[in-house]
Amino acid sequence: MINFFDPASDKSSDLGTPARASEVQVSLSIDGRSVTVPAGTSVMRAAAMLGTSIPKLCATDSLEAFGSCRMCMVEIEGMRGYPASCTTPVSEGMVVRTETPRLAGLRRNVMELYISDHPLDCLTCSANGNCELQTVAGQVGLREVRYGYDGANHLAEKKDVSNPYFDYEPSKCIVCSRCVRACEDIQGTFALTITGRGFESRVAAAGGDNFLTSECVSCGACVQACPTATLTEKSLVQLGQPERSVVTTCAYCGVGCSFRAEMKGDQLVRMVPDKNGGANHGHACVKGRFAWGYATHPDRITKPMIRKRLEDPWQEVSWDEAVSYAASEFRRIQLKYGRDSIGGITSSRCTNEEAYLVQKLVRTAFGNNNVDTCARVCHSPTGYGLKQTLGESAGTQSFDSVMQADVVLVIGANPTDAHPVFGSQLKRRLRQGARLIVIDPRRIDLVDSPHARAELHLQLRPGTNVAMLNALAHVIVTEGLLAQDFIDARCETEAFTHWRDFVSLAENAPEVLGPVCGVPAEQIRAAARLYATGGNAAIYYGLGVTEHSQGSTAVMGIANLAMATGNIGREGVGVNPLRGQNNVQGSCDMGSFPHELPGYRHISNEGVRAEFERAWGVTLQPDPGLRIPNMFEAALDGSFKALYCQGEDIAQSDPNTQHVTAALLAMECVVVQDIFLNETAKFAHVFLPGSSFLEKDGTFTNAERRISRVRKVMEPLAGKADWEATVALANALGYPMNYRHPSEIMDEIARLTPTFHRVSYAEIDRHGSLQWPCNDAAPDGTPTMHIDQFVRGKGRFMLTGYVATDEKVNNRYPLLLTTGRILSQYNVGAQTRRTANVAWHDADRLEIHPTDAESRGIHDGDWVGIGSRAGQTVLRAKVSTRVAPGVVYTTFHFPESGANVITTDNSDWATNCPEYKVTAVEVVKVFQPSQWQKRYQDFSEEQQRLLQQRRSAEKAEVRR
Ligand code: SF4
Ligand code: SF4
Ligand code: SF4
Ligand code: FES
Repeated sequence: MINFFDPASDKSSDLGTPARASEVQVSLSIDGRSVTVPAGTSVMRAAAMLGTSIPKLCATDSLEAFGSCRMCMVEIEGMRGYPASCTTPVSEGMVVRTETPRLAGLRRNVMELYISDHPLDCLTCSANGNCELQTVAGQVGLREVRYGYDGANHLAEKKDVSNPYFDYEPSKCIVCSRCVRACEDIQGTFALTITGRGFESRVAAAGGDNFLTSECVSCGACVQACPTATLTEKSLVQLGQPERSVVTTCAYCGVGCSFRAEMKGDQLVRMVPDKNGGANHGHACVKGRFAWGYATHPDRITKPMIRKRLEDPWQEVSWDEAVSYAASEFRRIQLKYGRDSIGGITSSRCTNEEAYLVQKLVRTAFGNNNVDTCARVCHSPTGYGLKQTLGESAGTQSFDSVMQADVVLVIGANPTDAHPVFGSQLKRRLRQGARLIVIDPRRIDLVDSPHARAELHLQLRPGTNVAMLNALAHVIVTEGLLAQDFIDARCETEAFTHWRDFVSLAENAPEVLGPVCGVPAEQIRAAARLYATGGNAAIYYGLGVTEHSQGSTAVMGIANLAMATGNIGREGVGVNPLRGQNNVQGSCDMGSFPHELPGYRHISNEGVRAEFERAWGVTLQPDPGLRIPNMFEAALDGSFKALYCQGEDIAQSDPNTQHVTAALLAMECVVVQDIFLNETAKFAHVFLPGSSFLEKDGTFTNAERRISRVRKVMEPLAGKADWEATVALANALGYPMNYRHPSEIMDEIARLTPTFHRVSYAEIDRHGSLQWPCNDAAPDGTPTMHIDQFVRGKGRFMLTGYVATDEKVNNRYPLLLTTGRILSQYNVGAQTRRTANVAWHDADRLEIHPTDAESRGIHDGDWVGIGSRAGQTVLRAKVSTRVAPGVVYTTFHFPESGANVITTDNSDWATNCPEYKVTAVEVVKVFQPSQWQKRYQDFSEEQQRLLQQRRSAEKAEVRR
């Protein structure tokens, strides 16, 4: 659905104050017309619902009313004076007048005061045509300013342009405090304050000299709330007001925020979070709102390229030539090495439709099941663990569910950095009084943030999640905290009994496992009691749970806790994996795993296979294909020779980089489809230029199973969207694909996938978004799962014996390295490194505790070498008490830091998800890069040189 941009309609959709939910309805009269609204609604909102727009400046419906500007005065029978309609709640029988000569005069007087201290540069102002001050001045009929413009004013105040994305121009500020309230209520950062009183009142960013150095996290909520041009996007200043907007979905994290992409011609002017977005309700973070410049970065490669050897310069060729070359290579290799010698990787950054097509291509045109996805290295244990216990490989709740939670347990996740909009929502709930338990080796921001603090932080040793979960379960069982009625009614009795007997064993007591985890037993007991008895209790977890040798066990341990306490199947509770990439849920749903067809149905199931065989017109192989790590092993063995890799950067993101690059070097044909020449593409023989989320239609599925539309706002820079390239490749391989639009792909997915039966673009457009399962049993989708019964029928408790990881510290490697993300960067950084987000984080750093730093003579900012059993790299040190002694931490956003050179081949026993979170290392002060880094630099420079030397199609030498 394309909404043509209309600032007027945008403003009129602002009802002034937030909606109220109440069973009690109140009727009143406004300007002689009757209206009935829920109790607690403001007079301003009630009037707006009648279509009466009362002038306002400090009110907006995303914030609680503040009542400072006095512009919204009304007359109310029986009330003295002129109450502010934004702060006055309706009452039964109330009679309101919004327009009288007296009110008009008073409003003009107020407006005169504002305008006398405002630069009158409307014609050249970036907000011209979309400024609330300007609109209200017109609305109240201001015709003169009797006070003149020569009195005391703020017109000479200096602009703050320090933030890379927005400016602060204080001379235009009307001190309405909408920005301050947005930062507090919506974002929860409390970075802004109003200093001074009366005329001296000014907005100030706390904790620094300017916005950049302050505590501001650049979410942009204040910019969106500002009614004037005081806080304005730099892109708007440069490009002018947009002409139209298209509603689409953020391509960064698994929150799946909805945005209006505001356009001028084919140029994106700004991204404005959509108030109707089911996951974000009008909020966003620095990545989605501002970090979209990568989409048109000069590094984008927009022409297909081929080469025979990695030592050759690239040859630019036509799409036809690149695709037919790739197809002929795949066929040549299969002829020589066998059907199973090739495979594909789907992307969790691409759309559902694109992931579906890649797995379909592998299963039909390649004729094998050698398809996998990056979820292998992040949330595959979630898929396995939740399927085993609850029956469905997905989170159980909507994000909004957290607003009903009384206790929130966050384990192995860092929402304020990795899922920031959910992090803000969680903090709002904490400010309302919910209690928080954090289980994490690192002191994440949530542990102690403004007005939100963890009651318990269980700072466990990396690798001991399962021991911790068993100790929590032990307390719940042995202290009689089980929800026995729930268990009896909803869960398998025998499995429960086995589990209960197992966790009751003395070996699982906190007094035994506490020392293993490095956490006092009493803290564990307190956390278990709080989780089990504190009311609605919800668990949120992330890669700090899954990326372990016992990742699947830990996921099952989490599901066990939820079942044992009855915290599942309603709002405010549940088991909630915070998915990393924008479409990691979707890529898994779409059948990207080698053992599963779309909808998580096992490839060995004859009935399911027959259904797909009929639809696709091929015979499918009944056995699971190769997982990504198996592909690497097979490549090194010489049996796996070619790869089609769409939108993933395995050379940077997968563990043990040297192992991965050796596998890539061993292949005869690597086809990479991406928007940049990423680390994997440096090992490629065919480069198919990818399309950004702005250049295509499709859908993403977020962590809440919410399917949202991605809408094309500009033509693909390379001429084809990613799905079109896959279609071309399938056809070149002799398997016909004839889709004209991604909606036809979704229609096929819906036909073949029971949980998607009622999903179509028309239905998504009608609802805004849809949470699967969406079928005849749930035509409007399913926000909360497992309400009356579990998807698998009865919930199954699983035994979760703790087995310590093989990755042990010793004298040589005495520290444990764990990894994670930072707010301003995203995964391998290919996108965010090409934006101004580098202003906050321009390199990965190693956090090390002061004690460990001191004993090694390391100071903040020193270069340090990190060595593990897998490899060595060099980073700058950041001495920090966020990590405990014995633990070091880094992010992995920059290829040159090589965080994954260090990580090992250890992986989850069930899914092969790598154990990124536990690596035994030693850290020493150094003065030069590691050997790996030197080799990496040489290789990268050579590949960049070969890219610069690329020749056009006419001169292409690689022809077949
Ligand atoms: S950008 Fe966000 S964090 Fe920064 S001041 Fe504005 S609302 Fe607060
Ligand atoms: S910066 Fe904007 S939102 Fe904040 S007080 Fe000034 S005018 Fe209001
Ligand atoms: S929270 Fe995630 S989905 Fe939302 S804007 Fe930020 S990166 Fe995008
Ligand atoms: S809008 Fe009501 S006091 Fe400002």
